[in-house]
Amino acid sequence: MLENLAPQPADALLALIKLHNADPRDTKIDLGVGVYRTADGATPVFKAIKAAEAKLLNEQDSKAYLGPEGDMGFVNALIPYVFGADFDAAKVDGMQAPGGTGAVRLAIEVAQRTGVKRVWMGTPSWPNHAQIVAAAGLELKTFKHTAADGTADLAALKAALEEAEASDLVLLHGCCHNPTGVDYTPAQWDEIAPLLAAKGVLPLIDLAYQGLGEGMEADAYGLRKVLAAVPEALVAYSCDKNFGLYRDRVGAFYAVTADKDALAKAMSNGATIARASWSMPPDHGAAAVRLILSDAELTKMWLAELDEMRDRMRWVRDQLAAAGQVGPIAMDVLGTQNGLFSMLPLSPEQILTIRERHGVYMAGTGRINIAGLTTGNIGQFIEALRDVATA
Ligand code: LMR
Repeated sequence: MLENLAPQPADALLALIKLHNADPRDTKIDLGVGVYRTADGATPVFKAIKAAEAKLLNEQDSKAYLGPEGDMGFVNALIPYVFGADFDAAKVDGMQAPGGTGAVRLAIEVAQRTGVKRVWMGTPSWPNHAQIVAAAGLELKTFKHTAADGTADLAALKAALEEAEASDLVLLHGCCHNPTGVDYTPAQWDEIAPLLAAKGVLPLIDLAYQGLGEGMEADAYGLRKVLAAVPEALVAYSCDKNFGLYRDRVGAFYAVTADKDALAKAMSNGATIARASWSMPPDHGAAAVRLILSDAELTKMWLAELDEMRDRMRWVRDQLAAAGQVGPIAMDVLGTQNGLFSMLPLSPEQILTIRERHGVYMAGTGRINIAGLTTGNIGQFIEALRDVATA
């Protein structure tokens, strides 16, 4: 029977990890998968996480099952950071999920069970979004995320909303847009929120990079604006980046509505989907986050580490922007973007050439993870880019 299977290509982004690891050149530069790197090119465990893990090791007295919702102490501890200190906690409930991917999957499948058949999403987007929508059997409708001037294309979103039906879901990136780094401005969110409300669509905000753009509060502006305007929304959250817990898979799915009955139904459906998918989420990383958020000193330590990451990424962006024109590529726009990612207008051939000739690994779409650039390699990268872009 197994011979009937059609072979599937490896995930292009994840395949880059192996390709980069196999490259023997010590001058190679990894701008592929979205992990933060220090100025030394390392992705260390946060000091706050190490401290929380030490506590966990000493204090955890059981690893017995928690249930499909996972660690609710973790889920609830995040609420003021995501929704704001003043948010009415009675309007939100959530559950732990295996990473942002698990959270998006839960959100899409819960939405599908409400009768949603179509998902609207700006493109380009994180490739896994489209895969998850397809896996849930929903129709994907797309609109342009970035306008010709390099800003977020509000007109395209407005046109999509004109066409959308009240039974549709609209998936928006809360901050640090993956892959473009181009976020809606606060003024644009001010327009988007009432439009979503007027149309009656179900918003799903994917917040996978809170704190890596402008700061924990500023990065939640759009999400909070939307939630203040609409009667119901879903949120997919990831701690994989802002706590550096990538492989521990730490995420959360939230539903927001003033209707208590609807909230309970969203959670019971989420729990059923989780049970049939992964039964219960992995505990370790979420427990470490809970310990951080329930300890003022550890919280301070974590936020300082996050500030340091953001400052370094801002430095990288400033350096890239200062390169000005690199062949036909205007680099200044990278300075205005947020988070780990930006897109470079390179052809597939140029992307292959920069990899083979210069050992620069980037996604086949031209997405770069700017955190892979350091004082030691940024000059080399710009020269490599000049070489392939002007060829
Ligand atoms: C990325 O886009 O590089 C990250 O979100 C990692 C992933 O799972 O794709």
